[in-house]
Amino acid sequence: MSVANSVTIAVNGREIVGVLHQPLVEALRCAGIVVPTLCHHPALSGLGACRLCVVEVTRGEGKPRLTTACNFPVLPDLTVRTDTDWVRRTRRGVLELLVMLAPGSPEVLALAREYGAEVADSPERDGERCIRCGLCVRVCAEIVGAQALGWHGRGAERRVATPFDDWTDQCIGCGACSAVCPTDAIHMEEEAARRFVERAGPDRLCRYALLGLTPAAVCSNGYQCWRCEVEQRIGDGLRDHPAFCEAAIYGRAKVRSRRSRNPSRSHKPGAKPSGSRSPSQSRRQP
Ligand code: SF4
Ligand code: SF4
Ligand code: FES
Repeated sequence: MSVANSVTIAVNGREIVGVLHQPLVEALRCAGIVVPTLCHHPALSGLGACRLCVVEVTRGEGKPRLTTACNFPVLPDLTVRTDTDWVRRTRRGVLELLVMLAPGSPEVLALAREYGAEVADSPERDGERCIRCGLCVRVCAEIVGAQALGWHGRGAERRVATPFDDWTDQCIGCGACSAVCPTDAIHMEEEAARRFVERAGPDRLCRYALLGLTPAAVCSNGYQCWRCEVEQRIGDGLRDHPAFCEAAIYGRAKVRSRRSRNPSRSHKPGAKPSGSRSPSQSRRQP
């Protein structure tokens, strides 16, 4: 941390040091202050979708207000309270809504119990785990660059799905969506990898190890990228999935810059990207 960028903020009566404009939740975590999160991932910009990381902030002599810590920046002259009655009441209300959305999620139910949220029955969503946080959609588009997932429906019917709810050539079977999902709502299937090999033939692009076009015989994981230990060993800075390692991000930057020089190569959702690909991702059905 450069000294010029460090900012001291007051949290729950003590002082901690963060980096100017760093997401508040990360500064709090570095200082060992626990704030519950579901839709936050350090590799993606904060969207504030689940509202669970709400905290009380005051700037200077201003009035305290509630804000989500994952998309609020560290700023000078900030006072933060993470465990007031107001905060706990708000989190409880948020969790009551999340339980209605995803009554099948043990993660959500555990948080609901911790905050004393009422768990209402919603038989029509029995077994549902998805809290509609959008992390899977964003990781697929922003980190992997595949854009194989999107939103379908509106209101209570809104859900994540592949285009036309079908197998899609845009999915490369990397498993990043499954890795980031906070409620374990997406599971990778070996069956999907087998279909990939059947459809796509003997070669596919190895995104993470950056081996280029790789014959099936070389990939010891049978193209199940989410099991790729090669890449997991490569990336020291790797968080919990190969998609977030420096090498993968560097590789994507190169692909993007090539696309920007040759816009005709950029593929739109629904169009087949260069190289044969096949679906290998499926949502767990309630
Ligand atoms: S497995 Fe498919 S849908 Fe999931 S992040 Fe990778 S490309 Fe996207
Ligand atoms: S499947 Fe998981 S990551 Fe995707 S929106 Fe639902 S809860 Fe979020
Ligand atoms: S973690 Fe901040 S809104 Fe979801």
